[in-house]
Amino acid sequence: MPDSLLRVLTCGSVDDGKSTLIGRLLFECGSIPDDVLVALERDSRRFGTVEGGTDYALLVDGLAAEREQGVTIDVAYRFFETPKRRFILADSPGHQQYTRNMVTGASNADFAVLLVDARKGLLAQTRRHAAIVSLLGIRDVVLAVNKMDLVGYGQAVFDAIVADFHALLDRLGPLSVTAIPVCARDGDNVTRPSTEMPWYKGATLLRALEEAEPRGRSLDVPFRMPVQYVNRPDHSFRGYAGTIEAGALRPGDTVVNTTSGTEAKIDRIVTMDGDRAEAERGEPVTLVLDREIDVSRGDVLAGQPLPALAGQIDAWVVWMDETPLFRGRAYQFMLGTKSVVGTIVDIATRLDVDSLTEIAVRELALNEIGRVSISLSHPVACEPYSDSRTLGGFVLVDRMTRNTVGAGMVTGIKPARSDLHWHRLDVDKSARALLNGQKSAVLWFTGLSGAGKSTIANLVEKQLLAMGRHTMTLDGDNVRHGLNRDLGFSEADRVENIRRIAEVSKLFVEAGLIVLVSFISPYRNERMLARDCVEEAEFLEIFVDTPVDECRRRDPKGLYQKADAGQIRNFTGVDAPYEAPLTPEIRLPTLEGSPEILAAKVIDALRSRGIIG
Ligand code: ADX
Repeated sequence: MPDSLLRVLTCGSVDDGKSTLIGRLLFECGSIPDDVLVALERDSRRFGTVEGGTDYALLVDGLAAEREQGVTIDVAYRFFETPKRRFILADSPGHQQYTRNMVTGASNADFAVLLVDARKGLLAQTRRHAAIVSLLGIRDVVLAVNKMDLVGYGQAVFDAIVADFHALLDRLGPLSVTAIPVCARDGDNVTRPSTEMPWYKGATLLRALEEAEPRGRSLDVPFRMPVQYVNRPDHSFRGYAGTIEAGALRPGDTVVNTTSGTEAKIDRIVTMDGDRAEAERGEPVTLVLDREIDVSRGDVLAGQPLPALAGQIDAWVVWMDETPLFRGRAYQFMLGTKSVVGTIVDIATRLDVDSLTEIAVRELALNEIGRVSISLSHPVACEPYSDSRTLGGFVLVDRMTRNTVGAGMVTGIKPARSDLHWHRLDVDKSARALLNGQKSAVLWFTGLSGAGKSTIANLVEKQLLAMGRHTMTLDGDNVRHGLNRDLGFSEADRVENIRRIAEVSKLFVEAGLIVLVSFISPYRNERMLARDCVEEAEFLEIFVDTPVDECRRRDPKGLYQKADAGQIRNFTGVDAPYEAPLTPEIRLPTLEGSPEILAAKVIDALRSRGIIG
């Protein structure tokens, strides 16, 4: 049994023959069971694109939907072996929108095969793949120039493509490249040397794969284990379960909980097969410590030197969502087993895949790759991606849809709380609120322009004032004259608008006030951010629910008329979205009651929640 395993990522653009190449490889290495071969012959006659022959692509494009579309649509892992070694192929499809799958497939690959069509040469997609491969820390690639039969097996075509690729290398970083001319359909230079291309003296694809060095999996690195869960079946047992991501461990070794800095010695290493005298990288274990220290899910148990505890990180991010990435927007940031809220504090540059240079930008669109800075709601133990894929690779998840919207690689770490201290103040919000004889709260009015937010908020505030309550109002139109004068109505600017207001509301809550906020605040994401700024009981989302037609009819500022005439762009409800609250604390349907009645409803809600007596 070969003992070394090579993880290979294959990437190519649509139609350049990747499935055929992989199918060939699997077939010629004898990885295809007989019954599958029979089915393959049958399918080749029905769906195949190789006249009169076997279409090896059908082995790979296994899904019916894919066959109909003629493209591959998901990452698939395939296993095969030769007498020399075992392989795992991660097959990522070529469509642009599937960059996400490529990132997923690449995350633990040692080696990449970049496929190009000899007739087309390097495409933008090839450059994108090469850039991602390089960012993901893969250092060895095969450039497989396919369909050589369609260019008359000409060496000049091959040499030109290889020269083009070499020209990219100084901008891609240290990649070691083996270029191979192949004809996947006929198997030339896949597992056997081509008789058609005697001018090529190098290795076949299979030999290149057999001879590739797997990425160093040195055990001589410090121990790292992100804690997956705390296993506490009864009082007598308490263990920390996870997969060892780096290094090795024996009972008696000292580990530190990176989050708290507390240390303990390993008492036992428990596995499914009983206790172990040693465990190493890649193994799932449950660790029992010799003393009780505070450890929870998401913490990293580590040996010296410890990973950094980051408060903010710089990273490359591959953006995978239709909605662009904006400064100010918050996402779930998941690294190792830790999940915190990450706010984009800066977007510095985008990697231009044509020139492979960096361009200053303010947002990242679908499939773009850029450098961003992310501030973390809680400290996260992490390392640069170049040192650790596990503790340096992360994903960004949309907090509303739960979709993975970005994948990132940490390049720089700013430690948590090193130079910025949070002063614990003796006079805190409860002291101030007590003096004011009230509980502080945020009443967050959201709704379309002209829905009646300010009108109702104004009535509520007057009543609170009459009751001797201390209040403050933040109103979109007014704040945009001062603090947020620099912001317009693009999605990015609205995100920043609400982020600032959420922070200001928090300050007013600290001041012990009841804060009335009326902003369109069209995005659920930012309203959630505002909610997260204060304590749960302090935030009331109040949806001023007026249909857009009614707002248009009222049109108090004449803005709908202008928007309809195309004089104002990005107008909410006309050509910009409004994401209505799904579960607001209070809904005020303005078609069903006067502003006075609706204001009374808010006052009632404040009473029933104990915010006012
Ligand atoms: S938000 O979307 O960023 O929350 P905000 O509440 O601050 O918006 O400002 C909305 C007010 O700005 C509207 O009530 C309207 O008077 C004015 N306005 C001007 N242009 C626009 C626009 N394109 N979309 C929405 N409101 C606009």
